[in-house]
Amino acid sequence: MKTKTFDDKEALARYFGDYLVQKVQKNEQLNVALSGGSTPKVIFDLLSKEYSDAIDWRKLRFFWGDERCVPPDDEESNYNMTRLHLFDHVPVPAENIFRIKGELPPDEARDSYADIIDKELPKRNKVPVFDLMILGMGDDGHTASIFPHEIGLWNSDNLCEVATHPTSGQKRVTLTGKVINNAAEILFLVTGKEKAPKVAEIIKEKGTYKSHPAALVNRDKSLWLMDKEAAKLIG
Ligand code: 6PG
Repeated sequence: MKTKTFDDKEALARYFGDYLVQKVQKNEQLNVALSGGSTPKVIFDLLSKEYSDAIDWRKLRFFWGDERCVPPDDEESNYNMTRLHLFDHVPVPAENIFRIKGELPPDEARDSYADIIDKELPKRNKVPVFDLMILGMGDDGHTASIFPHEIGLWNSDNLCEVATHPTSGQKRVTLTGKVINNAAEILFLVTGKEKAPKVAEIIKEKGTYKSHPAALVNRDKSLWLMDKEAAKLIG
């Protein structure tokens, strides 16, 4: 497992921007699964401000690792967050955006997204392949929307599953472990001191790390980009 620590979110965002520039230059097309939550906002804002011309956005096809079961204009929507902080500011063709339809009943949203990734992505071992999987991690060690109390969803035979947020009860649609670990490259974007205990357990394979869904992500394919707050207990 590779890790990189940055002084702050802005430095992490710039590293990510440079990384994306290079990947886009080297590839005709890139299928990217985005993470949700708050960490990507700072990164998308910086991409919008400093990388709008540096990246050929027509080469990027955007998907998500998970979505909240809310309408696309809801403040909780990962699609909406990405639109407000990125898509509204850079020239991504509308046909390159494959959102999870959070407005549908959860089972229907899950099935429609499974059909989309099954149809739109190349396969390896009959499983859709993302070129780049971007993940976050919650304070509880969850990733995508696979939470510790539902860690069994990771090993589902399905491409996507319906999940439930442990405290809010909010329904989510999430990719499962077989799709996440089938990605060519996996990038974790993790910031903030509240993440430090789980980060340290997972990276050092200590304590109850096996009960943290983020620990199930393929270590050989993963690069963890963190700010010094999140990395402070790695030692
Ligand atoms: C979501 C995410 C989730 C997120 C973590 C970290 O929809 O919430 O995809 O997995 O990455 O919860 O979220 P923060 O960046 O807000 O801490």
